[in-house]
Amino acid sequence: MDLAELERAVADAQSVADLDQVESSVLGKRGELAQAHRRLGSLDPEARRQAGRELNEVRQRMEATVAARRRALIAEERAATLAADRLDLTETLPGPKRGHLHLVTQTQEELEDTFVGMGFSVAEGPEAETDWYNFEALNIPPAHPARGMWDTFYLELGEPESVVLRTHTSPVQIHLMEERPPPIHAVMPGRCFRRDTPDARHLAVFHQIEGLVVDRDITFGDLAGTIETFTGAYFGPDIHSRLRPAYFPFTEPSAEFEITCTICRGEGCRTCSGTGWIELGGCGMVDPAVFAAVGIDPGQWSGFAFGFGIDRCAQMRHGISDMRSLIENDVRFLGQF
Ligand code: FA5
Repeated sequence: MDLAELERAVADAQSVADLDQVESSVLGKRGELAQAHRRLGSLDPEARRQAGRELNEVRQRMEATVAARRRALIAEERAATLAADRLDLTETLPGPKRGHLHLVTQTQEELEDTFVGMGFSVAEGPEAETDWYNFEALNIPPAHPARGMWDTFYLELGEPESVVLRTHTSPVQIHLMEERPPPIHAVMPGRCFRRDTPDARHLAVFHQIEGLVVDRDITFGDLAGTIETFTGAYFGPDIHSRLRPAYFPFTEPSAEFEITCTICRGEGCRTCSGTGWIELGGCGMVDPAVFAAVGIDPGQWSGFAFGFGIDRCAQMRHGISDMRSLIENDVRFLGQF
């Protein structure tokens, strides 16, 4: 075979396995080039040197050609494997190709839009938090009884501080106040984790959206007005909010906020235990101890915070009787939204 034929044989190899065969038949111990080398012995010294040089050049060129072809074939085979492994779950559904965002994601986006329309910006924080952010900076020191209510999953990362999967989005308040000076008007959505047994209104992994306003002369009236404006904007004009006294270590005074039950529209039903109201979240005026933890002067600034369940909102907005339906991945349920 001449050089052009050898190169064509390499170019014709359609797989790495084919190429291995061509390589050994050309460059291997019993290959064409090795045989040509053995024939050199019969030549006179000058012709042998000349032919030896030429054979070495051919060998180098062939090695480079084989290596280039090998790289190309490996890339082609990899692309073919990836294409064959591609998994599109929507293709397994009957009917035309479909698929959409999960109801909780849709709800989160709608809530963000509602608050952006009210002048809030959107921020996010980490899902794994140190004890400081999840508890201590929020005025929940070790052994505080409120820790029991928010017991959670701990990550074993060793000293110096314990790290938890956050139990609420309130630690993002701390990150924001550390990162930017007031005024702050922000909402912070995200995933939370609790050692809660799943039931009709609870999941162990769920979502909250936190709100924080820090500005001059902010009052409890601003908080109540914001909650009522949000409730009407998101749930519709016939749904209202009410605040009931509650306790949270990081707000003072604190309240639970409830909205008109969307199932019975306030008449009283089984879902709302006959009260006509459903709890959505907690809220209150930022506690001076929290301002102290982040170095904000409570003499100059005041603020309010709130936090409520996104899954609970989706449940209320769409009349879902059991929250666990959200995570069972039954496409007959999810496809309705
Ligand atoms: C809190 O988590 C406070 N961080 C809220 C807050 C923020 C108060 C800012 C004051 C200022 P609470 O534990 O009550 O509060 O939870 C608030 C809401 O999160 C609940 O009303 C509910 O809507 C939702 N939620 C709580 N636990 C779960 C759960 N296991 N599954 C689904 N939703 C939950």
